Amino acid sequence: SESLDERARAILLGNDRGGYTVPTAGLYPFQWNWDSAFAAWGFSTFDPDRAWTELETLFAHQWPDGMVPHIVFHRDDEGYFPGPTVWSTGRTPATSGISQPPVAATMARLVLAADPSHRERAAALVPKLLDWHRWWIRARVRDGVACIVHPWESGRDNAFDWDVGMANVDGSDVGPYQRRDTGHVDPSMRPTKAEYDRYLALVQFGRGIGWDQVRLADEGPFLMADPGVAFILIRACEDLAVLAAEVGADPGDAAEMAEGLRAGLDTLWNDARGHWDARDLRTDTFANVLSSGAWLCWLAGAGRPEMEAHLATAWGAVRHGLPTMDPAHPGFDARRYWRGPAWPFYNALVAMGLRDAGKDAEAERLRADTAALIRNGGFNEYFDPVEGTPCGGSDFTWTAAVWLTWAG
Ligand code: DGY
Repeated sequence: SESLDERARAILLGNDRGGYTVPTAGLYPFQWNWDSAFAAWGFSTFDPDRAWTELETLFAHQWPDGMVPHIVFHRDDEGYFPGPTVWSTGRTPATSGISQPPVAATMARLVLAADPSHRERAAALVPKLLDWHRWWIRARVRDGVACIVHPWESGRDNAFDWDVGMANVDGSDVGPYQRRDTGHVDPSMRPTKAEYDRYLALVQFGRGIGWDQVRLADEGPFLMADPGVAFILIRACEDLAVLAAEVGADPGDAAEMAEGLRAGLDTLWNDARGHWDARDLRTDTFANVLSSGAWLCWLAGAGRPEMEAHLATAWGAVRHGLPTMDPAHPGFDARRYWRGPAWPFYNALVAMGLRDAGKDAEAERLRADTAALIRNGGFNEYFDPVEGTPCGGSDFTWTAAVWLTWAG
């Protein structure tokens, strides 16, 4: 409706800090990588110029090795932990030392589609996107599949997926620290202290090796193949090839990267359980859980009949799709971040894949579910899929963005 559209635009403008957008005031006071890409998509509906600025600001902080960090700490903020001094990456302005799911190329393509007149700005972004995707291949693809070295790199921080790998991370020696997230949001909706201890131990390891990205993957305490990042990266490489062609830029090896990554996907297929699954490469063990990463298979053209069945079952178990974890699993927790809640921005990505796979009815159902959650609950970060209760941060950038581009 008109007034919700206005509210969504006001959220984007209210979270704009000048050239970049914070995910939400308080809880997330800096620029986050994939949040920012979704912000650009949202801005493209009413201010395409500002949309390109969002992406340009993010890529202005790309590392020399091609990595695009998951947080850019443009200015100090006491309300967040772990801040720049904990990361100590030596970058100015400060950044974190890990990346986040590479949705930027996919979003850039959508931003260009919204207003094809910004061809030059798109063309200028293409080589940077290529560098980033090549960084993923060099620094994160192991056993043919995209991996993460920290749960935060998946963007799905406390997903059950990571428990198997986190079991081998020693969080007992990280020293005293004070969380800030639980001062902004009900602790029952956030990751646990045991998880935070390990998140911090992984940051301390990275800092200890000077954030050498290849060593991080090859020697770090945590390395897990992530279906979410794997599917997103394949899609991003394909979108990058198309984007480059559309604006007359050199596509480099974007299409070949997509093809190579697709060939490695078998590593993620859990044959015993019949679904895509995260896999701990340190112990060569599957997570053995049907989780949110698997829902992105259609985005990479990797849907399978088993996944359609799982989708229907999971959907049938909750009132509001899509649960980010199998509702029948004992670890399902309807309000705890990535262990159950439905996330509007994530639904938008899943629906994009479903639509491309010709599953229009499922895509439309997901859109309607998401619209209802927002209409009844507000522009929250995520929602309890059983009761529809709004959870996490409010006035959230990517929730507003997907309202404007897709759900509303
Ligand atoms: C957090 O601090 O919760 C973030 O998800 C890390 O990126």
